[in-house]
Amino acid sequence: MTRVLVTGVRGKTGAPLAELLAARPGVEVLGGSSDPATVDVDGVRPTAFSWDDPSGWPEATDFVDAVYVVRPDRADAPQLVGALLDRTPARAHVVLLSEQAADSVGPGGWALWVERAVRDSGRSWTFLRPSWFMQVFTDPRFYRDVLTGTGDLPFADGGAAVAWIDARDIAAVAERALLDDGHAGRVYELSGPEALSLPRTAELLSRGLGRPVVSREVPVEEAVAGTEGFERDLTVLTFERVRAGVFGVVTGTVAAVTGRPARSLEAFLGDAAPALRG
Ligand SMILES: NC(=O)c1ccc[n+]([C@@H]2O[C@H](COP(=O)([O-])OP(=O)(O)OC[C@H]3O[C@@H](n4cnc5c(N)ncnc54)[C@H](OP(=O)(O)O)[C@@H]3O)[C@@H](O)[C@H]2O)c1
Repeated sequence: MTRVLVTGVRGKTGAPLAELLAARPGVEVLGGSSDPATVDVDGVRPTAFSWDDPSGWPEATDFVDAVYVVRPDRADAPQLVGALLDRTPARAHVVLLSEQAADSVGPGGWALWVERAVRDSGRSWTFLRPSWFMQVFTDPRFYRDVLTGTGDLPFADGGAAVAWIDARDIAAVAERALLDDGHAGRVYELSGPEALSLPRTAELLSRGLGRPVVSREVPVEEAVAGTEGFERDLTVLTFERVRAGVFGVVTGTVAAVTGRPARSLEAFLGDAAPALRG
């Protein structure tokens, strides 16, 4: 039996990953969440896991063979990830969810420090560096309510394109990296099949949802309104990277690792639109 801890099991990549892992024979899946009572995936054992409560880590990581680490977007993430891995069995393989071109923010960049904590842990590792997830359009914590409400799509793109990726494709790569040989020490830059401008993204959303969606390029200041501290700094940096075109780079890694092409935004919307309309 291979035991895998999935942190962030309620999240956009953790949820589909847990389903894929649970479908594999001989795999025991621990679904880590700070709210384990809400974890309801067939074959997944709800497991208390919070970055704010290290006292729960020993139980969550006991005897695991692999761990999927959803990077916590907070200033102390490098220290937290390092401390978690110190507690994790030395044989465990670590798959870290990072972000596209994490090294383009310079050697002092926070994203790289999180990756460094994994490299320095002594565990074998694989880094996933995805572009922006299509699931931001269906997540109530991001764009779902404006899209189904006013149809407004504000984004600080600065005219740059984004190669939106379906989080289920990230999960499919993570599944392979967690369970199969040949992924240790690999850095996977992951994108969807094409780079889409903001107006083109809105056009596809309009068609998929069957209602008008109007894109609106906004300044970074507007995009970060209401945030403060580290969250604000990180969001500003993220939009600067969007505007520099970092998230518009298309890679063939999903197909190379999983054997099937990355899903398009049209395909994603085909699956998601009924729920959005409902
Ligand atoms: N979103 C993107 O486009 C994107 C692109 C590239 C990289 N990333 C990186 O990927 C990581 C994950 O980011 P994410 O934005 O996609 O977050 P996410 O995985 O969807 O959610 C993160 C966590 O938020 C908690 N949560 C709180 N309320 C929730 C709710 N109502 N439903 C589900 N989960 C809820 C969950 O943890 P608990 O169960 O413990 O509460 C969940 O695991 C971050 O490091 C981010 O920087 C994201």
